[in-house]
Amino acid sequence: MSKWSKDSWKNFKIKHIPQYNDPDQLEKALKKLEGFPPLVFAGECRNLKEDLAKASKGDAFLVQGGDCAESFKEFNANNIRDTFRVILQMSAVITAKLKVPVIKLGRIAGQFAKPRSSDLETKDGKTLNSYYGDSINSIEFSEEKREPNPARLLRAYSQSASTLNLLRSFAQGGFANLRKVNSWNMGFVKASKEGKKYEKIAAKINEYLDFMDAVGVNTSTVIDLNTVEFFTSHEGLHLPYESALTRVDSLTNEVYCTSAHFIWIGDRTRFIDSAHVEFCRGISNPIGIKCGPSLDPDELVKIIETINPTNEAGKISLIFRYGEENIDQHLPGLVEAITKNNKNVLWISDPMHGNTVKSSSGLKTRDFNSLLNETSKAIKILKEKGCHLGGIHLEMTGQNVTECTGGIYKVSDDDLNSRYHTHCDPRLNANQALELSFNIAEELQG
Ligand code: PEP
Ligand code: CO
Repeated sequence: MSKWSKDSWKNFKIKHIPQYNDPDQLEKALKKLEGFPPLVFAGECRNLKEDLAKASKGDAFLVQGGDCAESFKEFNANNIRDTFRVILQMSAVITAKLKVPVIKLGRIAGQFAKPRSSDLETKDGKTLNSYYGDSINSIEFSEEKREPNPARLLRAYSQSASTLNLLRSFAQGGFANLRKVNSWNMGFVKASKEGKKYEKIAAKINEYLDFMDAVGVNTSTVIDLNTVEFFTSHEGLHLPYESALTRVDSLTNEVYCTSAHFIWIGDRTRFIDSAHVEFCRGISNPIGIKCGPSLDPDELVKIIETINPTNEAGKISLIFRYGEENIDQHLPGLVEAITKNNKNVLWISDPMHGNTVKSSSGLKTRDFNSLLNETSKAIKILKEKGCHLGGIHLEMTGQNVTECTGGIYKVSDDDLNSRYHTHCDPRLNANQALELSFNIAEELQG
């Protein structure tokens, strides 16, 4: 294999990286990024990898979630807090049911660049660049705003740094107090008739907390009950940005991409000889690989051997996203190929990206029941093959948006227009994300 460097991806087949009008401006922006401090530390990435290795053995479970695309416009403290909060709520529910720790991994603090099915978009007879995500161009439909602008990379870095700073404060500063988290869950359960069926789980958490209080274990005696570890992730799509933030860890001499703890390769960029696979081959972060219907399992085995030649546990997570209609056809073969070749992987279900439909009003949406069906099939198929579901990957927000239909609050097609705020794919709102977690936890246990 040729020698890896943080720029060796340039000699491979590149897809979904924008063309800039002014390459000098891009170089200048990248030089600045190279001088900026890392956003995450190598030791944190190693901790996450160890946690993921535990999840692959069934001793932990992963919740990975956040916006499809973060935006400059929706950047504020409340949005960050509410996404963090719902991930904590989901984690409490899953831990209570499965009796294993939940790894909390946000699609946040760097999830800006998007691969698009078409490079161009036509509206009212005018054709412009598609919107590629806020770190590249603007969602506004004008020729100037749709031009890739390198200054946006610096703004994305800065937003990621502030987001991470707030997340670290929330994680360490008392916001993660389990008693409070569970009182929010009780609120969800009590607010609707349908939610009552989850009452037992939420009540059980209170029972545990009461018991611990009684034996003198509480937030004033054990600091850990007030704090959590929270990790960040995004699709490592924009390789110029990712490689500018790639550094050698002075403790171990290993190379880490310091833009996030966990980087994944999207469904459109995971193929042999892809620049994205080449880049990920050299970094020591844990890596996700999206697996959609077009994936050839034998090709994936080769990609895994390229990225993880030592078969290190926790290094590779397979985030499969087939859709409820396609999962029966594809997942069994993938699991067989991985098992036959003895590859260590963590199995993560992304029930979002294979279940996108158009609503009657033309908006992209997803039906809550399709997501439930896909995760439920995933759990069964993996079990039948002697493996297990180790995590979920969701596009979700802590806000009360109306972007996906269904759930106990019955978001309908007609409701979609009222609070449809996403910059890219539709997200679950806080209640839908929590409801899905209750269901997955019950199903995994059952
Ligand atoms: C995404 O996660 O937003 C995405 C584009 O997914 P995929 O690569 O699986 O299509
Ligand atoms: Co998406």
